[in-house]
Amino acid sequence: MIPVDAPAPWTAPTRLSPGCETARLRLRFWQVEDATDMLRAIDVDRASFLPWLLWVRSDNRTVEECVAAIERMRDKRERTEPPADDFVIGIFDRQSGLPVGGTGLHRINHAAHVAEIGYWVRPDRRRQGLCAEAVRGLISWAFRTQNAGGWGLRRIHIRCAGSNVSSQSVPRRMGLREEARLVADRWTEGVGWDDTLVWGVCAEEWPSRAEG
Ligand SMILES: CC(C)(COP(=O)(O)OP(=O)(O)OC[C@H]1O[C@@H](n2cnc3c(N)ncnc32)[C@H](O)[C@@H]1OP(=O)(O)O)[C@@H](O)C(=O)NCCC(=O)NCCS
Repeated sequence: MIPVDAPAPWTAPTRLSPGCETARLRLRFWQVEDATDMLRAIDVDRASFLPWLLWVRSDNRTVEECVAAIERMRDKRERTEPPADDFVIGIFDRQSGLPVGGTGLHRINHAAHVAEIGYWVRPDRRRQGLCAEAVRGLISWAFRTQNAGGWGLRRIHIRCAGSNVSSQSVPRRMGLREEARLVADRWTEGVGWDDTLVWGVCAEEWPSRAEG
């Protein structure tokens, strides 16, 4: 029988979890103390983030700007009115403790219990499977119940520019479902009008897709 009442909107865990671990990585919120290492990670090759992440031009260019960015992230996730819908998460090397990149649960649709995942990896650690490992860990964490230290979300999606080949490889490699190609949906510098590709996965199908 189809349930009559829609479930209550998703709300963030009352006590945000300290993080989660994968084989090589630790995922946790950025702290102000990470600002210097965050800057170094991006400065390895700032231009390599373009044209995908335009914030590298205007933000995170000095330690002070990294501190300000980390404080903005904290303010956003601790906001209660309107309810927080953006949880930026750092990716750290478990051995060295240094930042490997960034990810997060973004643009949360509370009514649908859905979040979008974005990501970046520092230029000197790319092509080592770290992004896929981090995102796999984040999806498992996102689907875990809040009682078990997770986020209790129901569906995750990832959106990439049609011309961003390295970004698309991540969900494709992880076995997510390619669900849509939104034609000429965005402007990409140096490319022009560009498609958006959408991948999705729901909680109940994740264990088998993650194993695949
Ligand atoms: C996209 C990005 C996060 C990928 O990070 P990464 O750690 O190198 O990715 P992984 O090593 O986990 O690679 C996952 C898959 O993508 C493939 N891949 C990674 N970079 C690639 C590239 N430049 N070209 C083609 N395939 C690539 C890998 O080969 C791997 O597939 P495989 O296991 O079958 O070999 C990284 O290139 C980056 O930070 N780019 C700039 C920011 C950006 O574009 N973010 C995404 C915005 S939507």
